[in-house]
Amino acid sequence: MRRILVADDNTGLRDVLVETLQSLGHMVRGVEDGLAAREVLLGEERWDLLLTDLRMPGLDGISLLKELKEAGREVAAIVMTAHGSVETAVKAMRFGAIDYVEKPFPLSAMEVKVEKALERLGIEAENRRLKDEIQHHFGSLIGGSPPMQRVFDLIARVGQTSTPVLVLGESGTGKELAAREVHRRSKRAKGPFVTVNCAALAEGVLESELFGHEKGAFTGATQQKYGKFELADKGTLFLDELGEIPLGTQVKLLRFLQEKELERVGGTKVMKVDVRVVAATNRNLKQMIEAGTFREDLFYRINVITIEMPPLRTRREDIPVLVDSLLIRHQENTGLRGVIADEVLSLFQIYEWPGNVRELENVLERALVLADGDENGVRQISGYDLPTEIRGGEGDPTAQREYLEATGLSQRIERIEREIIRKALQEANWNQTQAAKILHLKRSSLQYKMKKYDLNRPEPEDTSKS
Ligand SMILES: Nc1ncnc2c1ncn2[C@@H]1O[C@H](COP(=O)(O)OP(=O)(O)OP(=O)(O)O)[C@@H](O)[C@H]1O
Ligand SMILES: [Mg+2]
Repeated sequence: MRRILVADDNTGLRDVLVETLQSLGHMVRGVEDGLAAREVLLGEERWDLLLTDLRMPGLDGISLLKELKEAGREVAAIVMTAHGSVETAVKAMRFGAIDYVEKPFPLSAMEVKVEKALERLGIEAENRRLKDEIQHHFGSLIGGSPPMQRVFDLIARVGQTSTPVLVLGESGTGKELAAREVHRRSKRAKGPFVTVNCAALAEGVLESELFGHEKGAFTGATQQKYGKFELADKGTLFLDELGEIPLGTQVKLLRFLQEKELERVGGTKVMKVDVRVVAATNRNLKQMIEAGTFREDLFYRINVITIEMPPLRTRREDIPVLVDSLLIRHQENTGLRGVIADEVLSLFQIYEWPGNVRELENVLERALVLADGDENGVRQISGYDLPTEIRGGEGDPTAQREYLEATGLSQRIERIEREIIRKALQEANWNQTQAAKILHLKRSSLQYKMKKYDLNRPEPEDTSKS
């Protein structure tokens, strides 16, 4: 059922149209002129379609469409025009009308036009949804924020080449997902994607894992073994935790990147393979180079294209989409359906997320287990289901309760402001000058706010008692 508004000063035609469209199952209302139509359309209710006469007393059809457009409240419209004023109808289309009919018209013709328009509206709504989806999703990566859009853009572009890619970022920012996406969008997508976690293996084992070994290469090498490089031929090798590669293996890796050739451990045959290397690390490689634990030449070889995964706290606008998608993903996996309360989203917005998206994932999973279900079994996640560090742990339970029950916008903003200030003070070890600097506030303003929010340095814990 759609909601249709009919505006025409001709009572007879108006009533017939209203009845006909109602009989098609729509919610239809008739108004006698443009002024009345404007009032209804700018009101609270949502309208899907407007049928409007062009010449009406008070406010004519064109002016009506124009005003709606200016108010940002455009609605799909079919204009009805008297014989001979098709030009006016065309003008109406400039202001957003999607179709027109010349009067007099058979009712059946109007029915067809309305159905066509509604069908088109349905398609457009679907297109909008799909477009929205593309804007927020890139394969399994989610994020509509500018930094994530830049990441998506870069991934899409590197696909066409075979140059090495280095994915950097804190833990839980989606480095592995990004690496998979680089492969999926490349011309190697049909080839294998092979992962090696460089942190998990001891030096010798890692080497034969990467390059393979010949039978008898070392004690215990009872069989010939293919290396991951060979297995990744025509595809992508993902070196996860690159920063953990021992120096000895770094040399071999460098050689491969330079020559595209390798030898199995204990072997003499030189093999050529066609592999693209994508590596990831959460370590600061430049610092490691200075410390002598990562080879500079390898760094330059592998760091041809860098994808930096932004921490979640720098793209907070992605939190709502992430929460929605993670809840849906969780529901698909476990059947547990959850919704979050508004205050949870506010708390998420001020939390630092040191563990990034992985931490968000874990927090939601835990909350779903703790949350109470409503009569339909939907888990209602509230602030009480969050870990203390997110809920604002140190506060006494009554204060938390107040926070959760605060409903007005300004009240909520104040709570959030208080929390941000408290965190800054804590970080500055309650040194006001330093906290003021963190917050870009004058010290006097900070003091004013501390007083307002009753923020005081906590009493040192009494350790004399045992
Ligand atoms: N942008 C994102 N959209 C959707 N899910 C994400 C996103 N980023 C991370 N995740 C999810 O968070 C978890 C961690 O992601 P991933 O393993 O790719 O992180 P990582 O950067 O490799 O972390 P680490 O350095 O700890 O290995 C995964 O479950 C992943 O699905
Ligand atoms: Mg990882």
